[in-house]
Amino acid sequence: MLHGKKIALGVTGSIAAYKAVEIVRRLKELGASVRVVMTNHATRFVSPLTFAVLSEQPVLTDEFQDGSQETIGHIAITDSLDLALVAPATANLIGKVAAGIADDALTSTLMALDCPLVMAPAMNDRMYRNPALQSNISLLKERGVRFIEPEPGPLACGVSGHGRLADTKSIIQRVVSVFGNQVLTGKTVLVTAGPTREPVDAVRFISNPSTGKMGYAVAAAARDRGAQVVLVSGPTQLEPPAAVECVHVGTAAEMRKAVRDHVKEAHAVIMTAAVSDFRPVAASNRKVKKEAVPDTLALERTEDILREAGSIPGSRVLVGFAAETDSIVQNATDKLQKKNLDMIVANDLLQKGAGFASDTNSVTIIDRSGVVTELPVLPKAEIASHILDNIVELMVKRGILP
Ligand code: CTP
Repeated sequence: MLHGKKIALGVTGSIAAYKAVEIVRRLKELGASVRVVMTNHATRFVSPLTFAVLSEQPVLTDEFQDGSQETIGHIAITDSLDLALVAPATANLIGKVAAGIADDALTSTLMALDCPLVMAPAMNDRMYRNPALQSNISLLKERGVRFIEPEPGPLACGVSGHGRLADTKSIIQRVVSVFGNQVLTGKTVLVTAGPTREPVDAVRFISNPSTGKMGYAVAAAARDRGAQVVLVSGPTQLEPPAAVECVHVGTAAEMRKAVRDHVKEAHAVIMTAAVSDFRPVAASNRKVKKEAVPDTLALERTEDILREAGSIPGSRVLVGFAAETDSIVQNATDKLQKKNLDMIVANDLLQKGAGFASDTNSVTIIDRSGVVTELPVLPKAEIASHILDNIVELMVKRGILP
């Protein structure tokens, strides 16, 4: 994913510096070449040797270190660099970069940058809330620096608060997303995912085996193209993708409300959710004793959220999913027409390596003009990427994208 990319990793003097060791490993695993630049304080927390061994490159700690050679260390590092990441970034480092100070190897390197800069702050929660720091962050954001928000949780100083370095996975995803095609920057994409649960009583419900994997992959693919993503998710075991707004829902009615709340701002709506088609007419909010459960359960249809979205005015691309076992293209095309969609993605549930809970899928993409694209069995992330590419094409045709 990061093959051929040259990344400089700045490490500053925070207790979270040890987490940068794992970041180097992950970046290397993804194929990046990594040069680590440390502040003096950072070397008090982790030895430069650790980073040198893992990155397989010398670590720059002193701006005059390479001075005896032909090149100047901090300038040489920034030559043909693809990205600089500072993780963890202390309040001090952020303040210096905002003020244009270059008094050590790391700040001098950052001063000479000609590539995107990503910073992942880590500090005590009161320090993080400090107005001087917040205004430095705002200023740097205006200059194009991308920030990975710290997370809430226990801090090294013994309290709990908002200041922990974001987890390694989120940091890596953000780095990867910088290299993605940012064609959807400024656009909002609404995605539904997972199953819904329709309660019978306090402990029983009607649902289906959807795990949400396909929808979460679609949300991540939209985010990687620069979109603002709202993911409306039924109950799943999955961690929402980083930098995606996730709205958790339970029932079809709740999913419908969340979709209605966000659909008007969306330029593309992708409904991967396996919405329950039926719900019990009368659900008890207590646990009903089995002897008291009637022999038949009266059901009613849930609202068709996708169909309803198709009737809401506005210029957006609307994409549905169809889980089929028979006459796949015909059935999916019928759904596309009935629900007034721009595109439908049909799963062949009987194909090996496709459908619910699998890490792979095999789909047929059908658009409104009748173009049918069959994809082989692929990881869901790759299927998601194909789907997004098709959506971008449709958005261009519809004039939603230039
Ligand atoms: N969908 C929805 N609201 C519902 C039901 C489905 O938004 N109440 C959406 C799904 O997210 C998916 C598509 O509609 O994008 C699936 O269409 P649907 O006709 O519901 O498929 P099935 O339920 O599989 O229909 P059938 O059982 O008739 O094949």
